[in-house]
Amino acid sequence: MKSPSAVREANAADQFSHSGLARAPRTIRRVIVYLNGRFLPREDAKISPEDRGFLFADAIYEVVRFAAGRPYRLAEHLVRMRHGLTALQIAVEPGFFPEVAVRLLEENRLGRDDALVYAQVSRGAAPRSHAFPPAGTPPTVFAFARLTDPPPPPEGGRAILAPDERWGRCDVKTVMLLPNVLASQRAREADAIEAILVRDGIAWEGTKSNLFAVSGGVLRTAPKGPRILPGVTRAAALEAASGLGFRIEERPVAVEELFSCDEVFLASTTLWTYSLVEIDGRVIGNGRPGPVAVRIREALEMEFRGARVGLTT
Ligand code: PDD
Repeated sequence: MKSPSAVREANAADQFSHSGLARAPRTIRRVIVYLNGRFLPREDAKISPEDRGFLFADAIYEVVRFAAGRPYRLAEHLVRMRHGLTALQIAVEPGFFPEVAVRLLEENRLGRDDALVYAQVSRGAAPRSHAFPPAGTPPTVFAFARLTDPPPPPEGGRAILAPDERWGRCDVKTVMLLPNVLASQRAREADAIEAILVRDGIAWEGTKSNLFAVSGGVLRTAPKGPRILPGVTRAAALEAASGLGFRIEERPVAVEELFSCDEVFLASTTLWTYSLVEIDGRVIGNGRPGPVAVRIREALEMEFRGARVGLTT
């Protein structure tokens, strides 16, 4: 039997999960996190209440997936991290990430698992004042590793529509996620897996995933730009889809199109692709996961596990 403290620790580790899905507790003796150059027990990792990530959401983040210590499309994540740091003018090199991630996986004994590594960089701590703090204020760099979320039900999921109340630079992966948090909570209360964010009649993306619609073998997804996060999985799904011979149209998808297409699916680091079979109580396609999402998901998982798509070995 596990000691009460081991159970507490395992449950606490699960609180890092943002899927809301239940997971069987797993005993972790001590969660080690990274903070500003040090690897230390999570309970010893402290940041200032004046941290600008806390006061202003003045920070960016990344979530990278690892299989047995091997990252999935790390270079793309680092390019996006650099894009965010440059947009916010935070002078940190994304090059810190790979070494930190590997050490976190080791320290937390996740080197053989499917795991996620989260990293966040804020502009650092300084007395509250909106404009940037004095030059030389050290940024705050925080990272942790945990198991990936358990896969959602294979029969597909439900989503709701929610107004997209985010700012005008959704291409930057900032921690300013309050609109995403509120829409995500509405989805949870509706027993749905995701909320699709709608602005000007366009279904742009989910709160933590990109959105695809499939009609007659043509894949549609919102184009890159300030209204969506350019997902690493989105790009991988587009590559896989064209490799599989599907036509692609990167253009805004009207909400009404979702209800007349054959398939709708989400794409993200945590989900790969995941079929939506119901949106706002209306059945999508034939109410079952469609073949396009399934084939793309298989291609992505093969790539992740080190096999080459299309190679018959
Ligand atoms: N979310 N769109 C939004 C708004 C996201 O937050 C995410 C990822 C994606 C998919 O991006 P990627 O394929 O690179 O994971 C799209 C992460 C997983 C999160 O916030 O936890």
